[in-house]
Amino acid sequence: GTDDRISRISSTIRVIPDFPKPGILFQDITTLLLDPKAFKDTIDLFVERYKDKNINVVAGVEARGFIFGPPIALAIGAKFVPMRKPKKLPGEVISEEYSLEYGTDTMEMHVGAVQPGERAIVVDDLIATGGTLNAAIRLLERVGVTVVECACVIELPELEGRVKLGNKPLFVLVSSA
Ligand code: PRP
Repeated sequence: GTDDRISRISSTIRVIPDFPKPGILFQDITTLLLDPKAFKDTIDLFVERYKDKNINVVAGVEARGFIFGPPIALAIGAKFVPMRKPKKLPGEVISEEYSLEYGTDTMEMHVGAVQPGERAIVVDDLIATGGTLNAAIRLLERVGVTVVECACVIELPELEGRVKLGNKPLFVLVSSA
């Protein structure tokens, strides 16, 4: 059942202390990817949730949204749109700034990748403060796309990233204390 799949997925995520800096407990999904059943279950759980929701767009956040987003997009018959770090996309872009612990970063999306009225989900491996997903939502909504939900493998609930998403629904498989 669903709970068995979630338990297995959760058990494959490796936690590495003090990466990338002291005090951070890094949630490493590369070990999930090494377990084909856990990886397939992860994708299947998202596909089961979104296949009948008229989703046209799967927006994946660099870098690890590029791992989970495309198989979901293929399975539900949606296009995949990469949301990238600055200066990576070759065409005309629109961009949104978002805040990090120190300073800001920028996310970019190709102009013309999505159309007004399309329905999107935003996919990433993890939500921490929610700043990254919030920037992705703003980019899509600026061009008239309906963001139906954000979908992550892991949530760090103590950072209250859901608050930053406002009333936007967030679906996660694993909550990490
Ligand atoms: C991580 C993670 C999310 C983001 C979440 O990416 O994969 O994209 O942080 O953090 P937030 O909710 O506080 O915004 P990272 O910054 O490690 O970038 P990378 O995937 O390009 O390595």
